[in-house]
Amino acid sequence: MQTPSPQTWSQRFETALHPAIALFNASIGFDIQLIEYDLTGSEAHAKMLVKTEIISPEEGEAIVNGLETIRQEYRRGDFNPGVEAEDVHFAVERRLTELIGDVGKKLHTARSRNDQVGTDLRLYLRAQIEAIQGELRQYQQTLLSLAEDHVETLIPGYTHLQRAQPLSLAHHLLAYFDMAQRDWERLHDLQKRVNISPLGCGALAGTTFPIDRQYAAELLGFEKVYGNSLDGVSDRDFAIEFACAASLIMVHLSRLSEEMILWASEEFSFVTLNDSCSTGSSIMPQKKNPDVPELVRGKTGRVFGHLQGLLVMMKGLPLAYNKDLQEDKEAIFDTVNTVRGCVEAMTILLSEGVNFRVPRLRQAVNEDYSNATDVADYLATKGVPFREAYNLVGKVVKTSLAAGKLLRELTLEEWQAIHPAFEDDIYAAIAPQQVVSARNSYGGTGFDQVHQSIARANQALGEG
Ligand code: ARG
Repeated sequence: MQTPSPQTWSQRFETALHPAIALFNASIGFDIQLIEYDLTGSEAHAKMLVKTEIISPEEGEAIVNGLETIRQEYRRGDFNPGVEAEDVHFAVERRLTELIGDVGKKLHTARSRNDQVGTDLRLYLRAQIEAIQGELRQYQQTLLSLAEDHVETLIPGYTHLQRAQPLSLAHHLLAYFDMAQRDWERLHDLQKRVNISPLGCGALAGTTFPIDRQYAAELLGFEKVYGNSLDGVSDRDFAIEFACAASLIMVHLSRLSEEMILWASEEFSFVTLNDSCSTGSSIMPQKKNPDVPELVRGKTGRVFGHLQGLLVMMKGLPLAYNKDLQEDKEAIFDTVNTVRGCVEAMTILLSEGVNFRVPRLRQAVNEDYSNATDVADYLATKGVPFREAYNLVGKVVKTSLAAGKLLRELTLEEWQAIHPAFEDDIYAAIAPQQVVSARNSYGGTGFDQVHQSIARANQALGEG
């Protein structure tokens, strides 16, 4: 294995790194993922050096062309620096010097790897956040289409995992749409803290050269530049915020996953899984396993772990750059890859992997006592104070259970024995369709409300 020559740093070093330490120190194995952003950042830096007359236009052109050549080499698969390069920044600089000679060594004027790596990471994250937002939009669109198909499909609603009140299935699905909408907005909001340029902060204190940080930032599409060089090179708040936003995306995907897993069980039987999104057991031939939602639920833990890892990494760091910060990359890369994979998998699962068993759902909402609240509401609208009505309905449920009857199976005499206010219209009032339809308060599960929610959801998707 080649190890960095002492000259990688300066003449001060006399012996090469111990091979194991070189390996330990190197980030090239993972930060090669930043190469496109590193090249883009370096091009902007070179152009800024030309504009400020720190290097000549000819030198700038040679550097930019050299960087472009490296980009093409990388895209062709011909640029594969090994551990001797230490990290992507050194790898690029070294290749540039091989390609264009000594002028390549001028690229690093007025810059440090500390502001460089911060720039790269922000450019990477900015692009990845946009990509995740795009994937969230597809996920939302899939939830919305499914909701549009299932406005009139009823599903038991639960609290404490006990049957509570029936719902429109669309309403249930749209709850996840709204969570994803918040996730999308959270990413949108945090972009303004990702999109700040540390380039030109130097190693920690700025630089003696007459640089133009605003110009380089503009070339890179940054909204503004860090106002304090120490903060600029050592801030990772934006990465932590992203890990937090990613964790919340995972919370939401994981809750839906948990429901899918329950719904696919024999006990619930609310959905069936299609072969394209489930797997069999190696030993029990009757099984079809919900691997996709299980994996999403399982991967949630590692995303939370990255958030925790980043927080702990930061909490004791003195200003400014410390090598600990190299640890941010694997956490962020894995968070990005995990979240993207999970959003995509859940979108596929929803669009082609599950079927709601509508007859089974109808049967489920017809065979329980989840219309009991509506009996109390019925009495309340007939003038019985709600708390009193609530107590009476407790009695109704008890009587029905003892008689082995559902509420709709009680005779009018039985109803009236409990309270004279019951009339023949009680049967219509407690039919599941009516029970759902009647919850017409804003944001409720009533069908009119669900149609309005669908309209709002369509509008949100139309807004970008
Ligand atoms: N590979 C380093 C990182 O990822 C780049 C910055 C190195 N800076 C330094 N002063 N050693 O953080």
